[in-house]
Amino acid sequence: MKYTKEFSEIFNHPSRGEFLCRAIRPSDKEGLVMALKDLSIESRKKRFLTLKKGFTEKELKIFTEVDFVRHVALAILKVVDQSFEPVGTVRFFVDEDNLERAEFAITILDKFQGLGIGNYLFDHLCEAAKERGIKELYGTASTENNKIVKLMKKKGEVKSKVITHGILELSLKLG
Ligand SMILES: CC(C)(COP(=O)(O)OP(=O)(O)OC[C@H]1O[C@@H](n2cnc3c(N)ncnc32)[C@H](O)[C@@H]1OP(=O)(O)O)[C@@H](O)C(=O)NCCC(=O)NCCS
Repeated sequence: MKYTKEFSEIFNHPSRGEFLCRAIRPSDKEGLVMALKDLSIESRKKRFLTLKKGFTEKELKIFTEVDFVRHVALAILKVVDQSFEPVGTVRFFVDEDNLERAEFAITILDKFQGLGIGNYLFDHLCEAAKERGIKELYGTASTENNKIVKLMKKKGEVKSKVITHGILELSLKLG
């Protein structure tokens, strides 16, 4: 398998230089907290469907202690000299009662949005899902979140249904 705890890849962006895409690790807890602080109110609402102000200890454990079997999570970081600046994360959790479905979420920090990084990261997520026999990725988004719909449509057929006022469930069939 390619997408394991050891996964790591350099991504050379045509105008923004070098990025590192790698498996999320338990030591990423602090980075995740810092990244949330850098995320705009608008993006927080799009990602969490609420104005998320922080993570609980339990959430941090879930988000960073990843088994790469039922839960796959990748981070992308900007390489700055000898250090790394958080840029975004993507993950999925396989459904307990249907191993061919997984719920995904993706976040790119505002200052890095619109550069194709979301696309790059979502491509990896789809590959990781296919590697595990997953046939459908689904997630929730606000009805005005056109960006995520556009991003998903590049990978295949997307269905959407309103699950509650202003909230959609989006589902992508993986080819
Ligand atoms: C949704 C998100 C992940 C997209 O990441 P990104 O890095 O900005 O996306 P990309 O730059 O790869 O662009 C993806 C597509 O969206 C399009 N797009 C960019 N801005 C857009 C806008 N304002 N409206 C509609 N589409 C837009 C781009 O044109 C691109 O399509 P293209 O390649 O055909 O040009 C990112 O905006 C984000 O993290 N948003 C907040 C959290 C969120 O909404 N998560 C999704 C729910 S879990």
